[in-house]
Parts: sequence; structure tokens; C-alpha cells
Amino acid sequence: MANIYVTRKIPNDGLLMIKRKFGKFDINPENRVLSKNELLKNVRHRDGVLCLLTDQIDREIIDAMGDSCKIISNYAVGFNNIDVDYASKKKIMVTNTPGVLTDATSDLAISLLFSCARRIVESDRFTRDGKYKGWDPNLMLGQEVTGKTLGIIGAGRIGSVVAEKMAKGFNMNVLYDDPQDNTYLEKKIKAKRVDLKTLLKSSDFVSVHINLTSGNRHLLSTNEFKLMKETAVLINTSRGEVIDEQALVKALQEKRIFAVGLDVYENEPKLSPGLSKLNNVVIVPHIGSATVLARTLMATMAAENLINGLSGKMPKYCVNKDAL
Ligand code: DGY
Repeated sequence: MANIYVTRKIPNDGLLMIKRKFGKFDINPENRVLSKNELLKNVRHRDGVLCLLTDQIDREIIDAMGDSCKIISNYAVGFNNIDVDYASKKKIMVTNTPGVLTDATSDLAISLLFSCARRIVESDRFTRDGKYKGWDPNLMLGQEVTGKTLGIIGAGRIGSVVAEKMAKGFNMNVLYDDPQDNTYLEKKIKAKRVDLKTLLKSSDFVSVHINLTSGNRHLLSTNEFKLMKETAVLINTSRGEVIDEQALVKALQEKRIFAVGLDVYENEPKLSPGLSKLNNVVIVPHIGSATVLARTLMATMAAENLINGLSGKMPKYCVNKDAL
């Protein structure tokens, strides 16, 4: 019988699949992130671990899993929380949950884009506070979205869907920065691949959709904000560390850019000092994939990956299969 540990409760459909296949498994009984020590203790000598993006699966944790461990199944599409190179050295499969959260996350990026452009959260607060004294030609003026230029940083699954939805629905011109040509987007919506500098200079809206790597931490900092239009809106639904948050607060305080919509933070769940005080920021708690459907499908996909990995099959979404 496989010896499995699940680091936090995920939607039941996934847990039931594991139970049906293996009879029993251990799970963190509390609805919270485990401390490093707790994680170390609980993953010891397991055959498989199902973890979350909030678990830092570093060398020490991987060593604790021991030689028996075959698979680390991440309940997320992003896997920057796992030392994949080290797992590969130890011949441990690492899997993720791509595709099933693409619509949910792209919809959230678009919601943030509109919330920022039209000052929705600020307007809501203003109205609730009893400050609305009647229609005013100059009240809460925002930015037009339709027909403007959208810059997509990272035209992978989610970035491409944001681009397509906004081009088709709101007639936006799309620029994208990606290491590879995206011929689908180029054909379908006449998207144009440009370098980051050109994208930042030319876009009215910039939406970030890259995987976090050691090479792109603080990709957007003071110099990049200086390149952007003063009327520009920046959206991040990827990983917080891609943006230098201190520099962002400064840029927003100085009104170098119009607004920012954040689903993710550099020191999640902590916000950089000053961020929550700003009116030109819309902040939500990493809810890109938080629809019932997406979270359920992530759970069943993570469970399926785990089951396949422990049954001697190569899981469909193994991110290190070439390195094993
Ligand atoms: C992911 O899956 O990587 C998202 O950040 C959370 O759903």
C-alpha cells in the first residue's frame, strides 16, 4: 500500500480518488500551511506527497522524503515552490495542474484590468462612505479599455487566453513578449511579438503571465515603470516576485503609472509597506484559480498525477520527465 501525505485539504473529489485507489492516506488535519518543521516531519519516508504552492519543497524536504519517494504532485500550475532540479536528481517526478485553471485565471486578470481602469473598488468605497453627492462630470475618471493596446508578458496558456478574450471582446491590439513566437496569436488576433522595452512603452495595459524563474525575479522595477505610460495599468496574476513591490509602491505614489491590479505579492501573504494605503491599487488574495470548477479540476488532476506516478505510469503532467 502506498504511503502518501497530503499537506492540506484540497477539494474532496481529489481526496476521494486517492482514497478509492489506495484505501488510506495521511493529511494535515488543520486548514493552514505547515511550518518547515512540521513539513519535514510529515513528509518523511513517503512514497508520494501532494503539496500546495505554499509549501516550499526544498532540498531538505526532498531529502526527508527519502529514497522511497516517487512523486511530488503540486496542486498548482506554477511549481516555483519546488526544487525541481534536485527532485530530478533524486529521480522523483514533479507534476502540476495546467489547463484547468486557464479560464478562471484569465477571467480574474481581466476583472482586475477593468477594476483598475474604471476605478471600481475606489468608487465602491467612495459611495459606501457617503461621499457621492450627485453626478459630477469629473468624478472617478478612468481609462478607456476598448480598442487600446494590451501588452502580454508571457504568452503561454493563460497569457494567450487573456489576449484572445480582450482582442475579440474589446477590440484590443495585442503586443506580447515571450521567448518564442506565438503563431496562433499572430494569426488569430494579429498579435505582435516585441521586446519588453517596446511592450512597456507602447501598452495601455500590461498583464504579466510568466512562470517565476531565478532569471526573472524583479523583472519589473523602477526602470521598467519609468518606461510605462502614465495612464498605463499593470496586472499581475502570475507570481509576486516578478515585480519589485517596493519600487511599485513608489511608482504608484508618484503616479508614474495609473493603477495596478495584484492577485499575487512578493512576500505573500504580506503586502509591502504602503501598498494597501494606495487608492490606485486593487488587491485580491491569490484567487486566480478560485472558482469551484477550477479548484475541483485541479484537485482531480493532482490526484490523477499522484495515482499514475505511484502506479508505475508516467503522469500526463510531469514537468521533469525529460530529466528523469
Ligand atoms: C497556480 O496554480 O499556480 C496558481 O497560482 C494558483 O492556482
